[in-house]
Amino acid sequence: MEAIGKPLDRVDGRLKVTGAATYAAEFELPNMVHAALVQSGIGAGRVTSVDDSQARRLKGVLGVITFDNSPKISTPASRPASLTKPIFGGPEIEYNGQHIGVVVADTLERAFQGAEMVRFQYAAQKPRVELAEFKSEAFAPGNSRPSSRGDLNAGRASAAQIVTASYDVPTEHHNPMEPHATIAVWNGDALTVYDSSQGVEGCRRTLADTFNIPIENVRVICPFVGGGFGSKGTTWMHVPIAALAARTVGRPVKLVLRRQEMFSGHGYRSHTIQDMELGAQADGTLTITRNSTLNETSMSDDWREDTARMTGMMYACPNLEATGKIARLNKISPTYMRAPGEAAGSVGLECAMDELAAKLGMDPIEFRLHNDTQIDGSNKKPFSSRALKECLTLGRDKFGWSERKMEPGTLRQGRYLVGYGVAGGTYPANFRPSSARIMLMQNGAVLVQSSSHDLGTGAYTIFTQIAAEELGVPVDNVRVELGDTKLPDGVTAGGSATSASTGSAILNAAGELKKRLVSLATETKGSPLSGMAITEVKAENGRIFATNNPTKNLSYTDALKLAGQTSVEVTGSNGRAQRANLSYYSFGAQFSKVRVDLELGQIRVEKMLGVFGAGRILNAKTARSQMLGGMIWGIGMALHEHTQYDPNTARVVTRNLADYHIPCCADTPEIEVEFVPEEDTQMSPIGAKGIGELGIVGAAASIANAVYNATGKRIREFPLTPDKLV
Ligand code: MOS
Repeated sequence: MEAIGKPLDRVDGRLKVTGAATYAAEFELPNMVHAALVQSGIGAGRVTSVDDSQARRLKGVLGVITFDNSPKISTPASRPASLTKPIFGGPEIEYNGQHIGVVVADTLERAFQGAEMVRFQYAAQKPRVELAEFKSEAFAPGNSRPSSRGDLNAGRASAAQIVTASYDVPTEHHNPMEPHATIAVWNGDALTVYDSSQGVEGCRRTLADTFNIPIENVRVICPFVGGGFGSKGTTWMHVPIAALAARTVGRPVKLVLRRQEMFSGHGYRSHTIQDMELGAQADGTLTITRNSTLNETSMSDDWREDTARMTGMMYACPNLEATGKIARLNKISPTYMRAPGEAAGSVGLECAMDELAAKLGMDPIEFRLHNDTQIDGSNKKPFSSRALKECLTLGRDKFGWSERKMEPGTLRQGRYLVGYGVAGGTYPANFRPSSARIMLMQNGAVLVQSSSHDLGTGAYTIFTQIAAEELGVPVDNVRVELGDTKLPDGVTAGGSATSASTGSAILNAAGELKKRLVSLATETKGSPLSGMAITEVKAENGRIFATNNPTKNLSYTDALKLAGQTSVEVTGSNGRAQRANLSYYSFGAQFSKVRVDLELGQIRVEKMLGVFGAGRILNAKTARSQMLGGMIWGIGMALHEHTQYDPNTARVVTRNLADYHIPCCADTPEIEVEFVPEEDTQMSPIGAKGIGELGIVGAAASIANAVYNATGKRIREFPLTPDKLV
């Protein structure tokens, strides 16, 4: 029963395309009412007065809660974790769009109307909006993890060529198709929440802490997620606000963020300015690597965009320093966004690598191969597996790299300039505690349960495949249930950890389940294996048999019937920590071909190839989709995405999908994805490393490097919009 690795169609595909998959906002509860957020109209300053009398008189309005009349409720802050924060802003305002109240009404329209009618007066201050203006105030946060080795001056002195350059990646927003949404309902002191979340367990803890109730009293349900990309990895304020609203009006309350509220109601990719210094000897050997990153954070959270991690481990270099500082702005806290750290970090490192290769007159693939290493220089540990070389060389062969001209601006196609670019990519291969339950029913049906999530990534499908293969039953017999705190504690879907972590838990649980079946078959009277030692019996492919005489056997289901048991179940965990003497990362290489119209400043990506070494691929189809999604996002990062703020009000002005540009089909070229064979059981028992984030890493840099190759112009301020090119 081979199932793992096959390009099995999504088991939840039909549910999704028919609308039968129920997302958080789609649960229908009796007596449910609607909430609308009231948000600050200034970016900094104070609310001087609140007048909610008109809103209260509006027909259908059931409750008006503002910071002014709310019970004082605080929720754990994400960073530093020791802080708590009031769930409403006010009277002091930290950012524009900060929730300062909520209106509950019998209909959504009345809730919105009521929210409009709450009047505030403000004493506004000039907000802090532009990161570059606050560089002099930047500080290293308490959680900063700099990387440092060797002697920078010695590295500088021994370099034949040095590149110093600053790369700017602006604020970007995740924009999942499904907005954040919460339905909250109280039953006495017990709270049930339907929430669009990447981690129901974390949400549950946050709510228990916020409302000071036992964790057993909180249940969080989220069977489907329409994309999260990190934005739903933490519990943002609208969640406890929905719960407070429900408690206040004594009815179930639904609260859905509108698209424009998705630009101030949760975090985003922090704006980063990376000052790079890279030097090498004439033969291409790196002698110095430095990355000093500045990133924006909120007025109260110490968000750190960890660009230092990739700089510290990617290439062999004896003299290195990677540091990060943060500066406070009037914005909500930044957060995880697809490949946090590496997505931006790869722009600094991989563009600077390209610049240095050009200065050295070296092919950029050769330059990377020359500095490849099997040792993580940041901790001196060997990588559990590292296929960067294989990714680069396979990509070179497949992509038509020999068409590339070393001299930029020399390849023409009619009126267009054509260029090729490459970049390396990596992402930590995370393995975290997770558990799962497997039940086998007498009719042969298998139920797999974990509170982990499928964010749209394919987790339902690969978990089905893992259970089917390990038990040796058809995939059609297996059903998977996810995203509910009543299920066994599964890992948060973040950091690309779900497949390796929960996948391994399912693998272990299935193995344990087979042992139970062996015990059952040897202990049950009337079984052909009755009385045999368990060491002489095996369970495989749906049958339990004597190893020395496989004709003595019975099916799993007959074993249950004979024993008079309707089902057998096992809860398993992934049961193993990563070994401390290795370093765990996935790797990839990104290739882009662009066509540039220099008169119009227009860049078109003509084709892309991503080659990845990401451990065992559990489903060829969904894995490819993950990489495609990441690479397309890389096009957005390179060419389109830029959250822009009004400098006077700190209000996001690009707060819809017409003004916040993401790649559409016409922007998206032919994209190929290749995986190099790799199975890393040192990383995780299932052999997988995780793929959710890797696909974006290096994608934007490869496009920018291709633009340089096409035009000879080095644009270091992302996105590469036409105004920067002409
Ligand atoms: Mo991922 S950005 O850790 O959800």
